[in-house]
Amino acid sequence: MINFLPSMRKKIVAGNWKMNLTREAGTILISEVVNMVHDEVNSHVQVVLCMPFPYLGFAKKLFQSRANIAMGAQNCHEKPLGAYTGEVSAPILRSFDVDYVIIGHSERRQYFKESDEQLSEKVQQVLANHMTPIFCCGESLDMRQNGDYIGFVKQQLTKVLFHLSAEDFSKVVIAYEPIWAIGTGITASAEQAQEMHAALRGHIAAHYGATIANRITLLYGGSCNAKNASELFACPDVDGGLIGGASLKSREFVNVCKSLPV
Ligand code: PGA
Repeated sequence: MINFLPSMRKKIVAGNWKMNLTREAGTILISEVVNMVHDEVNSHVQVVLCMPFPYLGFAKKLFQSRANIAMGAQNCHEKPLGAYTGEVSAPILRSFDVDYVIIGHSERRQYFKESDEQLSEKVQQVLANHMTPIFCCGESLDMRQNGDYIGFVKQQLTKVLFHLSAEDFSKVVIAYEPIWAIGTGITASAEQAQEMHAALRGHIAAHYGATIANRITLLYGGSCNAKNASELFACPDVDGGLIGGASLKSREFVNVCKSLPV
C-alpha cells in the first residue's frame, strides 16, 4: 500500500464558468448552487466552482463552510512572483483559499499559445502551493479523424505530467476534453469517453503502477449536461466531469452533480 494515496478514487464535478457572468449574476449562481448541493448532492461528490479571478476574493464566504464545495481558478502563471503585469501566481491564489486550478485548457493552449513546458511549470507551481491541478488534455477533430488520437493524448500526459514524482502525480486530477466537443453541443459518446479514459489509465499504470492509476480521478469534459451526464458518468473509468456551458445555470449544474454515481 502506498501511504500517500487516498483510499478511494475521488468523484468530482467541476464547473468552468470561463469568462462569463458579471458580479450580481455570479453571486446569485454561487448561492443557489451552494444551497442545492447541500440539499441534494451526495457528500461524497466533490463539487468545484472555477470562477474568474475577481470572484475568488469573496466567493469562499458564500460557501458556508460546506466541505464538499471547493473554489477553483481557471489558470495561473508559471512563475511564483515578479514583473508579469496582468498575471496571477499560484501563491496569490493559495492566499485567497483557492483549492483547485485548471491548467492547460485547450482554449488557453489555442488562444494564449501555452506550451507543454509552460504547463508543466504551472502544474508544479499549483502543487507546490498545496492546490490541486485539473490538467486538461484532448485531441482536435482533425486528429480524431485522421490521426492516432489516443497516442496524441497519451503524449500530452507524458510531456506535462510524467516528470512528477509518484506522490505529486497522485495529487493531479486529469480532465479529458476532446476539443471537438467543447462548446459545440456534440458530446463524445460514452464509448468514446470510456475508450480514452481506459487508455489513459493504462498509460498511467505503465508509468506509475496500477495502484496509482486506479486512484487517479479522470474527468470528462465537452458539452456534458444534465441530459447526457448519467450515461457518461456510468462509464467505469469516468470519475466525474468538467462542465462549461451547463455550469452557468444552477438547476442544470446541480443535476449534473446528481448524475454522478457514488
Ligand atoms: P462545455 O465546456 O461544457 O461548454 O463544452 C467544457 C470546458 O471547456 O471545460
